[in-house]
Amino acid sequence: MSTHSEPLGRPLRAGVIGLGWAGQQHMAAYDALPGVELVAIAGMEDGPRAELGEQYGLTRLHRDWKDLVAEGDLDLVSVAVPTFLHAPIAVGALEAGLHVLSEKPIARTAAEAQTMVDAAHRAGRVLEVAFNHRRRGDIEALKAAIDGGQIGRPYHARAIWLRRAGIPALGSWFTNREMAGGGPLIDIGVHVLDYALHFFGEPRVQAVSAVTHAELGNRGRGGSTGSVKQNVDSAYEVEDLASLLLRLEGGGSIVIETSWAAYRPAGDEFGITLYGTEGGADLRVVDYAPSGELTIFTGEGEESQDITVTADPGRGHLAVVETFLEHVADPANWSNWDGSLALDRARVIDAAYESARIGAEVRLSPATNADGATAGTAATEGA
Ligand SMILES: NC(=O)c1ccc[n+]([C@@H]2O[C@H](COP(=O)([O-])OP(=O)(O)OC[C@H]3O[C@@H](n4cnc5c(N)ncnc54)[C@H](O)[C@@H]3O)[C@@H](O)[C@H]2O)c1
Repeated sequence: MSTHSEPLGRPLRAGVIGLGWAGQQHMAAYDALPGVELVAIAGMEDGPRAELGEQYGLTRLHRDWKDLVAEGDLDLVSVAVPTFLHAPIAVGALEAGLHVLSEKPIARTAAEAQTMVDAAHRAGRVLEVAFNHRRRGDIEALKAAIDGGQIGRPYHARAIWLRRAGIPALGSWFTNREMAGGGPLIDIGVHVLDYALHFFGEPRVQAVSAVTHAELGNRGRGGSTGSVKQNVDSAYEVEDLASLLLRLEGGGSIVIETSWAAYRPAGDEFGITLYGTEGGADLRVVDYAPSGELTIFTGEGEESQDITVTADPGRGHLAVVETFLEHVADPANWSNWDGSLALDRARVIDAAYESARIGAEVRLSPATNADGATAGTAATEGA
């Protein structure tokens, strides 16, 4: 099919930085999609780097991201490394003239994310962030139902991602505040925030009230047994549960609850319960089922009608990478794809952590940021 490579008359040349689960999703997508060639990877683990190099027939294998960016002939790069490295790598790659697809969360803070968006504008290149959950089939089906008017105007939602014992790995970068920027809220809550706001049609978040708790991880409980991550001997420095109330422009509201660890049914569960003026919806995905249970509620009072929707699994990262390539192949619109949606998510997460810290609601203003400094960035002021 694709027209991705047409402007250049040759396939786009892609690199992937990061060899973990996330990086491997990007590698598989570049390998599968037409109009693009995976030519280089970078990551610190010698064994996996060699194995992945062999799997994809690559000779350009680097330990450090700087050597991959310095290759000079790449068109684009995926960044799938610990969160503290997202901004330096994205800015370095953009300044080297590459288009960048970063993993979520965009960065540890909105201020850091802003440096990435600014770099994309200066370089005149595409910056995108992987929100692969909104490309699941069940989430796309619910969005289609909302857009088709089946539930009317959504006015309230309760959205979750909860785990019983799913701290990505005790002692790894995920549990280190400096490296990760936070716990389950910034890690999995950012997906929930993304799909919830997507369902509401991207209203501006006006205010956030949040609480965070760290009760289990700091006592060595709740670590995932299935997650293998490099041990950096970190103490448990982040929350293991967060709960948020968002007030939206136009009067809507969203409650988000997210945990890596909590005494609740075993396993992993995410989803959303959504109430609209003409109907409602409930989506549950248990233990990463490719397709969750989606029900749409319509009708009036006693004469309610429940519709069970069977959705395809969807394409997740494959769809994210494909859309990124479509944007890269459209130079006239590069400035529209600058990471600002992900930056908005980062502002909400900043405000949530600030709210939890000060114990009060934090209002977000489009006019000033936390220091009251720059127009167009987040304001976090206790209310
Ligand atoms: N979208 C999703 O569903 C999803 C799922 C998992 C992780 N993620 C995100 O992907 C990112 C990586 O997560 P992960 O679980 O794959 O982590 P991971 O710890 O398994 O892998 C991180 C990789 O980064 C590499 N790295 C670290 N420093 C480097 C450097 N200086 N140069 C080159 N490579 C370096 C490591 O060697 C490793 O290969 C995180 O931002 C995470 O939030 C997204």
